[in-house]
Amino acid sequence: MAGRKDEQYKLVIKQAESLLQGEHDLIANMSNLVSLIFHTIPGLNGATYYRFVKGELILGPFQGKPACMHIAVGKGVCGKVAETKHPEIVPDVKKFSGHIACDDASKSEIVIPVFQDSRFWGVLDLDSPDFNHFDQTDRLYLDKIAPLIF
Ligand code: SME
Repeated sequence: MAGRKDEQYKLVIKQAESLLQGEHDLIANMSNLVSLIFHTIPGLNGATYYRFVKGELILGPFQGKPACMHIAVGKGVCGKVAETKHPEIVPDVKKFSGHIACDDASKSEIVIPVFQDSRFWGVLDLDSPDFNHFDQTDRLYLDKIAPLIF
């Protein structure tokens, strides 16, 4: 399973590099990258960028159901990542105190902090309708994939 996930993420990196090559518009790059992730990595019901603007997270390009537009630092999984600047892997969202539910189908979640020139820039949030869907393999590859927008 981990081997298969490896292959899927390697494919996303390869496709992302060619898809985003030469493009510097962040909205265009975020849009295509979340679409690529959503349609390549199995078992997702959401893939969302949030930008850190004026001290809060604001919704960016995403795939999935309509999502919460503003998230304060410290609120939900994304807000916790904005506070700690560390990734969060949540095997069961119901057990994460303060989890913000945008889609009832979401059972597990991973949120990766995104940095631009070492400065905290925002987060990438993936949701799954399966419990315990994300692991360190996801974290490892999403750390590499999320900043490909820059
Ligand atoms: N579940 C997230 C909110 C964002 S949506 O899932 C897209 C959270 O608790 O921060």
